[in-house]
Amino acid sequence: MKVLRKRKKVENSEDTLFITIVIDHYHRYGRHDLVWRKKISPYTILVSEIMLQQTQVSRVLPKFILWMKCYPTLKALGTGTLHGVLVLWQGLGYQRRAKALLSIAKEYSILPRSYVDLLGLSGIGTYTASAICAFAYNQFAHPVLETNIRTALIEYFHLNETAVHDGVLYDDLSRIEGSKKVQSLGARQWYYALMDYGAYLKASKISHNRKSAHHMIQSTFKGSLRELRAKTLFAITHNKNLPIDERLETVLFQLEKEGYVTKNKSRYTLKNF
Ligand code: ADE
Repeated sequence: MKVLRKRKKVENSEDTLFITIVIDHYHRYGRHDLVWRKKISPYTILVSEIMLQQTQVSRVLPKFILWMKCYPTLKALGTGTLHGVLVLWQGLGYQRRAKALLSIAKEYSILPRSYVDLLGLSGIGTYTASAICAFAYNQFAHPVLETNIRTALIEYFHLNETAVHDGVLYDDLSRIEGSKKVQSLGARQWYYALMDYGAYLKASKISHNRKSAHHMIQSTFKGSLRELRAKTLFAITHNKNLPIDERLETVLFQLEKEGYVTKNKSRYTLKNF
């Protein structure tokens, strides 16, 4: 019986040019000195990728260095406390990322290797799981798609389109991954190269995230519930007075429900892990 196979789309001349531009840019201007690219382990990649979610490279750099001094391994982090990680995280925002890292360390002393197992970990979504596979294990397990890579792909392949769906961009990435040049570069270097090219476009004021069907406008922090939550956690972590705000009860309720704090005789303290 004849077996029907889905035909794999082959690389075309447009792809070849794109790959050449991206790799050439990387060799000349790549951010080769980023600390998490020089000291590579599953743990350094996990921490850097979680920190880099929603936070700029320049803000992450000093925190990453400090974090590695305090918690050099996943095992060392496993002995940490919520108080310790939140104090260190101060200034990065989205504190649930610090709690997620601590939860992972309390459960594992070695990170799982497979994409599916990684997806099961606290705070790890499709992007982070694919980034760990590419950067830590140098595997082309699942295409890596984030904001800078989106910009690079849309600029080159979908400039005249609107509402470009991520599915289309994943198809582009899968097709390009098949290229010999990309395969010989390896997943780690290829995705660094793509990110750096996208970051360069952004720095040149070319940003196509509005053309993405998944474009989300980040809500204003000032006056938001997110800000009150950060202030409340800060106050509890540092033993200071709670902020005065009519939404405080809601925020405290959420923090308690999410396992950050416990209430004892109407006093809130950080939860022990
Ligand atoms: N290198 C590896 N991951 C990165 C990221 N998320 N942002 C910038 N540079 C990186």
